[in-house]
Amino acid sequence: MEWDAKKYNTTHDFVFKYGAGLLELLPKESKKVLDIGCGTGALTSQIAELGHEVTGIDQSLNMINQAKESYSDLSFLQEDILNPSDQIGQYDVAFSNAVFHWIPDQELLLKNISEHLNVNGQLICEFGAVGNVQSLREAFGRELNALGVPFEEPFCFTSAEDYRILLEKNHFEVLEILEYERPTLLKGGKDGLRQWMEQFYSVELGELSEDQKEEVLENMERDLKSWLWKKDHWEADYRRLRIKAYKK
Ligand SMILES: C[S@@+](CC[C@H](N)C(=O)[O-])C[C@H]1O[C@@H](n2cnc3c(N)ncnc32)[C@H](O)[C@@H]1O
Repeated sequence: MEWDAKKYNTTHDFVFKYGAGLLELLPKESKKVLDIGCGTGALTSQIAELGHEVTGIDQSLNMINQAKESYSDLSFLQEDILNPSDQIGQYDVAFSNAVFHWIPDQELLLKNISEHLNVNGQLICEFGAVGNVQSLREAFGRELNALGVPFEEPFCFTSAEDYRILLEKNHFEVLEILEYERPTLLKGGKDGLRQWMEQFYSVELGELSEDQKEEVLENMERDLKSWLWKKDHWEADYRRLRIKAYKK
């Protein structure tokens, strides 16, 4: 899918604001860091401010162009981590926030990361855990079902236990793996839920007619109101996995 970088920076900036906590896991001394799925570059620039030599990569041209425009002194490449080119190079740390759950082939992802890491290089990442935004996903699935539209889940959400096994199988030693609940305020007041859907399920919603889309979003707002609406905003039931591992 292609990203709306402007909307991401204004309405969904919670993604990199929450991701800032992950920066604390970075080594204190200066390292070569690859920011995988850097998006609009907000965390990439904070990594640089911490004194690291950082390159941001993202498969989305919109995101990379926005990152280059905002942080013209930093290095950004349009690259798909599942099909990387030689220009990426070698790193001490692979960093990534809110990206891995978008990637269906996790074995290939870890293999490619490993190839761009030096021996003993670190992997520091955070992404959606099993059960992430479960109520939203289930409600959307029910609505599409009712319309007779097939729903294929675009996300891959894993448990700490399963991801530890996957990392070890792919020659990483796990130093830290944390699965936690992170209730997340959606900006936009009463429109917050539909704005979140329009960003993160843009492909699926784009396949519906305008009337169908409106019906789906209205039904979701009605059905989810009793547990996700908090007086003046929507709160999504986010669950995350935070990981620090190194390449053996
Ligand atoms: C939710 S955004 C997170 C962006 C950024 N890390 C942040 O914290 O703001 C997910 C990003 O992952 C990127 N992405 C998804 N799959 C990718 C892949 N295979 N290779 C590179 N980037 C990818 C998307 O283009 C998008 O910019």
